[in-house]
Amino acid sequence: MLPPIAKSQTFRQPMKIMNSTLVFFSFFLLSLFCLSALAETSQASDGSTILFTTMGSSTFEFDIFTLPTSRRPPSPSDEHRLTDGKSINFNGHLASPSPALISLLPNTSGIQPQDKSLLHLIYVTERDGAPTLHYDVVHGDNKGTRVQVPLLSEQQSGMSVNSMKDTPVVTNEHLVYVSTHENSGKPMASWAAVYSTELRTKATQQRLTPPGIADFSPAVSPSGNWTAVASYGEKGWSIVSKELSTDIYVFLTRDGTQRVKVVEQGGWPRWTDESTLYFHRKSDDGWISVYRAVLPKTGPVSTKTVTVQRVTPAGLHAFTPATSPNNNDFIAVATRRPESEIRHVELFDLKKNEFVELTRLLSPKSHHFNPFLSPDSSRVGYHTCRGDKTGRTNPHNLLQKLKTTSEDLSLFRFDGAFPSLSPEGDRFAFVTFTGVFVVNQDASGLRQILPNIGFGTVWDPVRRGIVYTSSDPSLNLTVPGLVGTHKINILAVNVDARNPSAAVKKLTTGGQNNAFPWPSPDGKRIVFRSDRSGTKNLYIMDAEKGEAGGLFRLTNGNWNDTIATWSPDNNWIVFASNREYIGTLLMDLYVVHPDGTGLRKVAQNLTGGVSMHPMFSPDSKRIVFTTTYAAISAEPIGNPKFNVASSEIFTVNLDGSDFMRLTHNSVEDGPPLWFPKIKATGDVAWPKRFGASCAFEDFKSQNTTVKMNKRSLMCPSQ
Ligand SMILES: *[C@@H]1O[C@H](CO)[C@@H](O)[C@H](O)[C@H]1NC(C)=O
Ligand SMILES: *[C@@H]1O[C@H](CO)[C@@H](O)[C@H](O)[C@H]1NC(C)=O
Ligand SMILES: *[C@@H]1O[C@H](CO)[C@@H](O)[C@H](O)[C@H]1NC(C)=O
Ligand SMILES: *[C@@H]1O[C@H](CO)[C@@H](O)[C@H](O)[C@H]1NC(C)=O
Ligand SMILES: *[C@@H]1O[C@H](CO)[C@@H](O)[C@H](O)[C@H]1NC(C)=O
Ligand SMILES: *[C@@H]1O[C@H](CO)[C@@H](O)[C@H](O)[C@H]1NC(C)=O
Repeated sequence: MLPPIAKSQTFRQPMKIMNSTLVFFSFFLLSLFCLSALAETSQASDGSTILFTTMGSSTFEFDIFTLPTSRRPPSPSDEHRLTDGKSINFNGHLASPSPALISLLPNTSGIQPQDKSLLHLIYVTERDGAPTLHYDVVHGDNKGTRVQVPLLSEQQSGMSVNSMKDTPVVTNEHLVYVSTHENSGKPMASWAAVYSTELRTKATQQRLTPPGIADFSPAVSPSGNWTAVASYGEKGWSIVSKELSTDIYVFLTRDGTQRVKVVEQGGWPRWTDESTLYFHRKSDDGWISVYRAVLPKTGPVSTKTVTVQRVTPAGLHAFTPATSPNNNDFIAVATRRPESEIRHVELFDLKKNEFVELTRLLSPKSHHFNPFLSPDSSRVGYHTCRGDKTGRTNPHNLLQKLKTTSEDLSLFRFDGAFPSLSPEGDRFAFVTFTGVFVVNQDASGLRQILPNIGFGTVWDPVRRGIVYTSSDPSLNLTVPGLVGTHKINILAVNVDARNPSAAVKKLTTGGQNNAFPWPSPDGKRIVFRSDRSGTKNLYIMDAEKGEAGGLFRLTNGNWNDTIATWSPDNNWIVFASNREYIGTLLMDLYVVHPDGTGLRKVAQNLTGGVSMHPMFSPDSKRIVFTTTYAAISAEPIGNPKFNVASSEIFTVNLDGSDFMRLTHNSVEDGPPLWFPKIKATGDVAWPKRFGASCAFEDFKSQNTTVKMNKRSLMCPSQ
């Protein structure tokens, strides 16, 4: 989420704004949410629109770059961008040009496979909002022509089933990768599994991961015979899983058989030969380090017969190792040094046991992610923010259209939190950590209406220009631990007033924490959550007189009820509650009639995770919400902002049937809003470029990851 009034930053100057606040706040923001009701307007029969936010994604401007490994120290002219400078490009892999790989190139490309100046890059690229896999042949200095081909057929790449593709590698004949297109069939279990597809035919799509199991970060041995993965195995993922708690398994690349656990507590496996793996693990001394596992050449392979040795020393975090076949001289790693807030790529000299810094010497203030080595070890690749220097000309989008599998539904990412569409359909209200804003549908006319962050925005369905939110001038989100206990009141703001922040009406007077207002479809009443009884329950008050006009207590119990929204047909209020898990962060969805009767859980099989931010479809028949139902989709440490929980957007019928997953990615998708069809049919860009590129904060060095984890767990019970 981008602060629309932030000053533009220059190349490789990631935002310094509010350092610790940023992560805290943005997660916080997303974990809270609610939004608009549009009863009086179009019960559109021509489809509807869901808007949502993906944490930080509007500022993700990743490209894949390379450096030679022999230039120590490197100079700026050694670094070359390999990808297009437009899409979000990440998680690269440099392949040997096998005949099967070359066969994918158009005959007219004139590529000579033996041409050593060419790089064969396999990577993930996000276009149309969907991560898919590409193969580019490009000169090492990015001069001359580039040949680009998609690696999967239309169907496999997620055009017909929404899904995410990640971490591709190739063997002589096959592409091996992660995909999330198959439902794990179990609540709170990841859909990520490893598949292989024949390069030449793109025909088969063989699942190598057993049913009901999730695998991440596949690596193929130099012969292609074995694949190693990080996996939670049978025990599965849990919302309280630590950030690095996978194990490493090895199986036959051919068909997934002979699967065996080789390392307890390890992730990101990478081979140097048929029996040696490097991986990362959190050491007992608190540092994330790279380790080496040697598998026995004969006899049974198990965690008991595999020898494990620490490779990188205490004193800094070293993770996401990269290797190349038979290179026993060095590996590449990402590091977090204690004196730095930035993630950098370094080599680690295995002979001298010392680090060789690379990217910090070139762009000290940019994060560099997920290194990889060329097969001959001469180059190291990674992804980083492309920045101004290399084509940062495209403005951020206010609205980014995503492909959907249904004609009736359009899906957009919104560049801000809690977006709400006015009943007239002409403008949005939304929130950033610098305040509450209103903007026209075409991204023009941006105006700040409150100087403080608000918890939700929602337009009055009847009275023009009235936006409800919850906020307070004393709100200070830089103070951790106060989330959910802050003093906040329900406010009605006339956004058409000359000075809206002076035209604020405070509707609540009792309780400390009154949040997430939502008007009834006739605009007469407002449902909200309040801690006035000591715990958070739902209340209804008059929309004009506020609490002074009387209060109806909708729910009552010693637990947390929150984020209630009203159905456009006035029959139901849907909300999130931890009533089955008192004292925990777990939340399920419930519905109740506005008179307090008919309370029931929406879906029994949603139990056991965090489901939040529910909102009705315009026809009141379905509910869109965020949930951890599909767990995580990648090893978190390979992501920017890896400390955050991983909610995705789902829809479900009011009776709990027909679950549908709408979003697939490995970062947090935030509060969704469901409206009648909006005017936009494609991306809508902000009128000018502003805001920082790649404006997010990485995890804190030493011991902070743990704190972050706790903090992110704290948030969902808002
Ligand atoms: C490209 O070459 C292959 C094999 O050499 C051939 O089968 C195919 O027809 C050619 N395609 C085009 C478009 O020339
Ligand atoms: C890989 O598997 C093939 C077929 O089973 C076998 O012939 C070959 O020796 C194996 N290569 C290595 C390096 O283990
Ligand atoms: C918020 O709290 C922090 C830490 O206590 C303090 O440094 C900062 O000045 C406060 N900001 C505001 C706007 O009160
Ligand atoms: C309500 O949520 C808070 C966190 O915001 C949590 O500390 C508390 O235990 C929850 N209360 C109950 C009764 O579950
Ligand atoms: C959950 O249960 C409902 C009702 O039995 C069913 O329609 C729905 O498909 C189930 N969802 C999943 C994801 O298992
Ligand atoms: C990190 O945690 C370890 C063990 O919990 C402790 O010994 C060490 O002092 C901590 N380091 C810092 C920098 O807080």
